[in-house]
Amino acid sequence: MDTTDYYRNKICIVTGGNSGIGYALCEELLKRGATVYMAGRDPAKVEQAAGHLAMYRDRIRTLIVDVVHQQQVQKAIEDTAAEAGRLDMLFNNAGIGHTGPYEKDTLADWKVMIDTDLWSVIYGIHAAVPIMLKQGTGHIVNTSSIGGLIPVSFQSLYNTTKFAVTGLTESLRYEYAGKGISFSTLCPAFIATAIFNKGLDGSVGAEKIPEGAYPADKAASYCLDRVAERHGIIVVPEEPFTTMWRRSAVGDPAAEKFMFTMAHLRRKEVEQGKAPQAIPPLSML
Ligand SMILES: NC(=O)c1ccc[n+]([C@@H]2O[C@H](COP(=O)([O-])OP(=O)(O)OC[C@H]3O[C@@H](n4cnc5c(N)ncnc54)[C@H](OP(=O)(O)O)[C@@H]3O)[C@@H](O)[C@H]2O)c1
Repeated sequence: MDTTDYYRNKICIVTGGNSGIGYALCEELLKRGATVYMAGRDPAKVEQAAGHLAMYRDRIRTLIVDVVHQQQVQKAIEDTAAEAGRLDMLFNNAGIGHTGPYEKDTLADWKVMIDTDLWSVIYGIHAAVPIMLKQGTGHIVNTSSIGGLIPVSFQSLYNTTKFAVTGLTESLRYEYAGKGISFSTLCPAFIATAIFNKGLDGSVGAEKIPEGAYPADKAASYCLDRVAERHGIIVVPEEPFTTMWRRSAVGDPAAEKFMFTMAHLRRKEVEQGKAPQAIPPLSML
């Protein structure tokens, strides 16, 4: 399928656009001819990030939105559609990560995680679908995670929200297929972004980006190619994570062994007072 022109003149909103994968999506969308509304919660960060893309100043706008607040999300989406005359694409990408032993997670932690990584996506879809239905066209792209396809030990909060995002997006993908609205789910794995350095409250700690993490710009470019082809679930980088997902889904013994080994190594780290982050050799799969 020729997808070269898929993004030309499209009106796109990208939440969490000031950083990491969201920023890379904004830049790649601009390169491909879209008009981008870069959304973020911190005005200074958004202004700075948009400043880096000043060469596209005629096609970049900014939105200040904290995605845990439904009214802010609703207003940003409705205002954009009113200003631009339509909304072609919504990237519900803002999110946070969290790794730690389940027994240490408080109900307040659960709430922050579900508000940020799941309700935000529901709010975005809730606001965008009526606009896109009226237009008879649109594409909603939700950022889930490889952790929205494969269970990862010591990430139960994160897994809960991301599995929900994958299920929600896939369900709507089929439901709206005849109504002109496309849905795609981005499932990144180990992309080099600041998410690894951030706490649940958004505070930034020491640099912890895993060695060999995949570049965000390459991830964004790959994802936009697949989105233009109307793929549903998009795993990036494709390998070895697609194989891992498929094997995990059917209960392949090698995948089970990998998961139990990861849990065992992480439990040991926790017992030694360290953060659980061990990953067994991918060659085990
Ligand atoms: N990097 C990976 O390996 C990886 C893997 C799987 C999934 N993901 C997913 O990819 C998405 C983007 O993450 P990233 O890796 O690019 O991390 P990132 O660089 O930290 O970007 C996350 C973005 O979301 C924003 N955000 C967080 N909470 C928000 C809120 N309440 N309101 C508005 N914006 C908010 C952040 O704003 P601030 O800059 O103000 O914090 C930031 O712009 C997330 O959904 C994440 O779960 C990433």
